[in-house]
Amino acid sequence: MDIKFTLNGNSQSLSTEPDRRVIDLLREDLGLTGIKEGCGTGECGACTVLMDGETRLSCLTLAAQIDGRDITTIEGLQDMEEGIILQKAFEEQGAVQCGYCIPGMEMAALPLLTLHPNAARNDIKIALSGNLCRCTGYVKIVDAVEQAGREIAVKKEGL
Ligand code: FES
Ligand code: FES
Repeated sequence: MDIKFTLNGNSQSLSTEPDRRVIDLLREDLGLTGIKEGCGTGECGACTVLMDGETRLSCLTLAAQIDGRDITTIEGLQDMEEGIILQKAFEEQGAVQCGYCIPGMEMAALPLLTLHPNAARNDIKIALSGNLCRCTGYVKIVDAVEQAGREIAVKKEGL
């Protein structure tokens, strides 16, 4: 089938099998390899993207389901002020070890920080609860999201 969607702010049209997994479409057909596949069964969160601003597991989403939607991947963060702040905070907090889970973690954090930059630490943990990390013990990841939230809130207040 032919599908059209917005991908990181740009319109995208392609022909694909309707039941092709979105993670395969993005990584293999479009070369967006920042998205990671951990489990492939909806349990690890490594493949998280945003669909119409909300988190979505791309390993459980089929091509037909993104027709007409707005998709954001980790590659799109560099074009968003909140995304740049978030990625810098992960670096500064030393929240990245092997890095495999980090794209999913950042995508999971972004909707919360966009809507509620002053989110409580517990709300950050809830937002990240579907994302597994085998390296860090999570503390620095939560620290990084908290730092990013503080910085985003300051920017918003300064507007
Ligand atoms: S790869 Fe999609 S949830 Fe693990
Ligand atoms: S940094 Fe290695 S899995 Fe999270």
